[in-house]
Amino acid sequence: IPVDRFDLVIFGGTGDLARRKILPGLYRRFLAGQMPEGSRIIGAARTEMDREAFRNFVAEALDEFVAPGKREAAVVARFLEGLDYVAIDARGEGGWDALAGLMRKDVVRAFYFSVAPALFGDIAERLHQFGIADGDSRIVVEKPFGRDRDSARKLNAVLARHFDETQIYRIDHYLGKETVQNLMAVRFANILFEPLWNAQYVDHVQITVAETVGVGGRGSYYDKSGAMRDMVQNHLMQLLCLIAMEPPNRFEPDAVRDEKLKVIRALDPVAPEHIVRGQYQAGQGQPGYLADAENPASRTESYIALKVQISNWRWKGTPFYLRTGKRLRARASEIAITFKEPPHSIFEQEEGWKENVLVIRLQPNEGINLKVMIKEPGPGGMRLTQVPLDMSFAEALGEEGADIPDAYERLIMDVIRGNQTLFMRGDEVEAAWAWTDPIIAAWEARGDRPKPYDAGTSGPEDALMLLHRDGRRWREIR
Ligand code: BG6
Repeated sequence: IPVDRFDLVIFGGTGDLARRKILPGLYRRFLAGQMPEGSRIIGAARTEMDREAFRNFVAEALDEFVAPGKREAAVVARFLEGLDYVAIDARGEGGWDALAGLMRKDVVRAFYFSVAPALFGDIAERLHQFGIADGDSRIVVEKPFGRDRDSARKLNAVLARHFDETQIYRIDHYLGKETVQNLMAVRFANILFEPLWNAQYVDHVQITVAETVGVGGRGSYYDKSGAMRDMVQNHLMQLLCLIAMEPPNRFEPDAVRDEKLKVIRALDPVAPEHIVRGQYQAGQGQPGYLADAENPASRTESYIALKVQISNWRWKGTPFYLRTGKRLRARASEIAITFKEPPHSIFEQEEGWKENVLVIRLQPNEGINLKVMIKEPGPGGMRLTQVPLDMSFAEALGEEGADIPDAYERLIMDVIRGNQTLFMRGDEVEAAWAWTDPIIAAWEARGDRPKPYDAGTSGPEDALMLLHRDGRRWREIR
């Protein structure tokens, strides 16, 4: 889908996110021919530098974060020509007139707030005071969107002072992932699964986001958040919503977001015995969390597993098991939907019988895999065995499947197109916090200590028990 010409201002344009994700992502869209001629990207940050210095900064970022095969000198040079820079004082007056002078009236104007949330209000205010933003402009904000419901509410109120909800794009980059959107395609573009997609046929759901990285380098942020705030309240929650929501009547922003919100509101509170928090300790040559976070007394969780129940007609009785953690055995994100056994078996075989499982692999090796029972080939009688119906995107879709755009590329282009479907609405974020807050408050009140697990393993032993107690087991992380 084509996009209109735009001026995109990146506040925090010299920051880490801009360098790693936003600018390389924009370059890749430019390379793909999706950035219309005459569009401009304007870096805005406190650092005094001129346009040339910013272009050099971006050139270096592209060297580091764009694959060499995609960095043809002539294309990079053309991309850099569209860049500008303004040094700005977010809390003062400096630089705003200059920015106002640069902005054009006849193009889409978008503002990416890649800065600390404490600055959102000041920037929003200045954009209006200096006549830089208007009723058609769009703003993009990053997580963390608050650290509890109160702070999220305040942020929403600050933004609402100058921008309408239809102008605000709250990023959860998981929604920009190809496979996450595929979840909706699998559910709503096929008739196969939807009739079975409920508590009558689904035994349970597992959502896993396992990472191998630790928190080294960003310990000061992470130690105040932990896995619950950093991953569950946003990314895992969004995955859960997309699996559990009712079919929206259209693939349109509010239709989708209304359905997600209903899921969040239907989540039961989670009892302490349904939560396992973990913290990695040194292992397999990797440092422990306390060293990484530079806080020897930290009780922050780098791993969490929860059993979540949804109180509505569709899902009552089907548990959703969520887990995420750092420095685990492998990087693997997937959603596994385990179906119930057939109501009656006509076969005599008792062993080796397995349930159907639909696995949606988010990363790496994106794909979909459905485990089905078949007859074991050969003359040995009616022996049953389970085989995977496997669909790897890279294999099935050839080059296109292998060259999946990064989440940020897609999301930024959606901002320019004015499509909010893959962005979180204010009430959705607040509702997610409303569910999260009492869980965190309860373990804080108990003085709960996370269970240690060795770096490079699959997390604390207790997490196994969470499923064993229910006669189930986690899928292996690999
Ligand atoms: C971020 C979290 O939002 O998502 C990080 O703050 C985490 O802690 C990251 O590592 C994971 O994203 P991805 O795309 O690598 O799965």
